[in-house]
Amino acid sequence: MVNLTIDGRAIQAEPGKTILEVARENGIYIPYLCYHPALKPIGSCRICVVEVKPGPPRPLPACATYVAEGQEVVTNSERLTAIRQELMKLVLINHALECPICDKGGECELQDLTHALGVPEVDLTAVPATSPPDYESLLVERHTDRCVTCGRCVRLCRDHVGAMAINFMQRGYFTELGSGLLPLDCEFCGSCIDICPVGALINKQFKYRARAWEVTKTEMVCPFCGGGCTYELHLKDGEIMRVYNGETALLCGRGRFGWPVINSPERLRTPLVRVNGELQEATWEEALAAAAGGLKAVLEEAGPGALYGVGSPRATNEANYLFQKFFRAGLGTNNLDNPGRLHYAKALSALGQVFGWPEVKEADGPHPKPPVYTSPFGIKDDTKGSGFTFVLGSLEELPQADAALILGADLTPELPPLGWGVNAARLKDDFKLVVANPRGTKFDRWATVSLRYKPGAERLVVAGLMKALITAHPDLTPAISAQGFDELKESLKKFSLKEYATRAGVEVADLEAAAAILAQAKAPAILFGTELLSQDKGDMNALALADLFLLVGKPGTPGSALYPVAEKANTRGVCELGVLPDRLPGLLPLDSPAAPAFWGEHKPVQTPGPNLLEVLDKLEQDEADAPKALWLLGGDLLRWLPNRSRTEKLLGKVKFMVVQDAFLTDTAKLADVVLPVAIHAEQEGSFISSTGQLGVLKAALPANGVLPDWQIICRLASALGVPLNYRNPAQIFAEFARQVPLYAGLAPQKVVGKGIPAEVKGTFVPFDLDISLPGRRPFTLIIGKVLQHSGSYTTHEPCGTLVVSPEAAVSLNPEDAAQLELKAGDKARIISSHGEVEAKVALDPLLPAGVAFLPEHFAQPAAQMLTLNSNLVRVSIQKA
Ligand code: SF4
Ligand code: SF4
Ligand code: SF4
Ligand code: FES
Repeated sequence: MVNLTIDGRAIQAEPGKTILEVARENGIYIPYLCYHPALKPIGSCRICVVEVKPGPPRPLPACATYVAEGQEVVTNSERLTAIRQELMKLVLINHALECPICDKGGECELQDLTHALGVPEVDLTAVPATSPPDYESLLVERHTDRCVTCGRCVRLCRDHVGAMAINFMQRGYFTELGSGLLPLDCEFCGSCIDICPVGALINKQFKYRARAWEVTKTEMVCPFCGGGCTYELHLKDGEIMRVYNGETALLCGRGRFGWPVINSPERLRTPLVRVNGELQEATWEEALAAAAGGLKAVLEEAGPGALYGVGSPRATNEANYLFQKFFRAGLGTNNLDNPGRLHYAKALSALGQVFGWPEVKEADGPHPKPPVYTSPFGIKDDTKGSGFTFVLGSLEELPQADAALILGADLTPELPPLGWGVNAARLKDDFKLVVANPRGTKFDRWATVSLRYKPGAERLVVAGLMKALITAHPDLTPAISAQGFDELKESLKKFSLKEYATRAGVEVADLEAAAAILAQAKAPAILFGTELLSQDKGDMNALALADLFLLVGKPGTPGSALYPVAEKANTRGVCELGVLPDRLPGLLPLDSPAAPAFWGEHKPVQTPGPNLLEVLDKLEQDEADAPKALWLLGGDLLRWLPNRSRTEKLLGKVKFMVVQDAFLTDTAKLADVVLPVAIHAEQEGSFISSTGQLGVLKAALPANGVLPDWQIICRLASALGVPLNYRNPAQIFAEFARQVPLYAGLAPQKVVGKGIPAEVKGTFVPFDLDISLPGRRPFTLIIGKVLQHSGSYTTHEPCGTLVVSPEAAVSLNPEDAAQLELKAGDKARIISSHGEVEAKVALDPLLPAGVAFLPEHFAQPAAQMLTLNSNLVRVSIQKA
């Protein structure tokens, strides 16, 4: 520690901190303007000047001066006040004095500073600034005449968002914000709004709806993706005014601007029951009676195995836990799964094979009365963790990685916080980035090596990386203690390095360079996404990456970890809470010795149920044990499962279907009973983010006719003779947390497994190298995500991001489009062997020739009309 005094007060501080940071930690006020805790200091405004001894005679900026042993710092003196006042006059010289109509009034740092520094008047004059406000830009209004050129927005956008959409233009007094003479590359995340100290950047959703002092604030987790961002929800008169992040300012557009979807006129507010073939409005009592009656009839006729449940990655941990409890303890079956089966569950199964399933021994507890949403287990000296959870990375540590491989993921749309983490990591001088993707992504601009492989060739790329490593280092031993290395080496002999490269469509030299980066890294991170996992052999892709991590990973070093994308708000939670046919809460196996203790006398059966994809096969084959009734906890299966026509036909075979959802999705339209659910700020509960952080939702709004999932499950289960009586979600959390030592130490904002000492070891598992894609059509179509949307949730009016991305378009390389005589905006017909759709054309020079991209979010074009068993499909494209 460093000993210094600030204003005569003796203080101990961590070395490497600045005077401003230490002063703030100790409650000592130093005014500042260009500084923000989320950004690297640049020391440009000089408002934060302090006197430092020993040091130069002139005052130093506290935000850019580091603490040192024996330093004496003075933060307040006549001289400092005079300097700060003069500087403030220069800032104010040309500042539009329109506080009464400026939306920042009441929370403006310039107002506060002017007051705090006692600037009586501005006795200087200058040429008036002339830049007119920009009212037209989407979601963010710009008033450059209010800008104080602090550069916070420029640094945030460039260094953390990674968009580089704004920059300073001109110099000196005439400096103003612009796009830096580049085409505007804005992601419409609005992060620059929350970091701006003044009213130069205005949230158009908030403007003139409330003053800052009128709002009540509720902190909560964002429901739009697995990023787990927390923010403040600002409400006035029971209505949401805005989403705000005053801490890091970072949120993506759907998180910041997507909330109006909660007020969508398309929301279901009344239960629906099918009567004479038509869905008709019903009361809750009628609908629950109809649901219970229909399910009971099936259960009585065909037994408990006739009902299959599909949990939801949008529903809370508490709802999903109760859902699986109903099936296991109530019906005595494991007939349940969740839509993560199509991607994240594949990663879990691969990681389980390589690193083992997670287990925690000798946790401290359970203690009787933990705080709400907190595990009753603590961590003691002999607590020991094992299994794959301990190679999964936390968001907090990602910036400490010194190398990263991003494979098969367009990080920004898939999980923006992982992109922000990589951006923070790349601010370090020694950071190296390998980006491997069939199409160009934002991160290519910072890549040391970019590998543009053929769609679906991920496993060959990974095998090529391992081959290059082993070739360069014949005596290589895996970085993590592992068995099966000889077998893996043997399996890699199938092709030479050159053959791996050629088959994957990349250069040998690039594979070698990327392999060398990973081998030399002290803390390599590997990030991969749903585009890679949603393939037919997504589990094989994950196996390959897990093997690679055994070779190069340093799991004891912060930042060195695997980062699979769990795409929706609770994709990780729905799996970890046991909505899987072969795992109990905490991912315990069905035959775990701990399992008999679950729920007293209602012991879970040990025979796994079929998974979601196997259930569809059973329905297709008309097998005797195919389910006769389905209970879907949300999730539009027609939208998300490949081969929509098949799914539609198979759902038609089910005798009775109950769907809980917030919207009348295409799948809900096929249901016999539809039960409308609370979303977002209408309900309480918890999520587990993709990187393991526990986030808590709060019911800040009335539910307005709908019910939270957990209440519906309790009522329907009770009507089916399985009493589930709970007072609130916190009580449900407390119940499952007592059964899951894996959650030792978990609390709001804390990360699963964090702090538990773990021994990581594994077994290399060889993987399939066949990457053939059926069919001969000329284009490979990738179906994936776009930045402004989260599933179909954000496609409902009046979601804010619809103004940026109102519809789906098929993206084509401009040369391909020209050959097809298609221009941007033309209608194209996309034809596969399984169906066809029409979509507008967009041109994307980052797409290689022969590859097309179609977003998955919208009802039309229904992308899954085209697919068979993967998000990749061969298609023909022609003018519509
Ligand atoms: S909205 Fe986001 S991407 Fe656009 S300028 Fe602001 S910070 Fe940059
Ligand atoms: S727009 Fe705001 S954040 Fe950006 S430089 Fe101007 S005052 Fe600073
Ligand atoms: S990144 Fe995800 S969690 Fe964060 S604001 Fe965006 S949608 Fe919400
Ligand atoms: S806040 Fe320190 S120089 Fe601007």
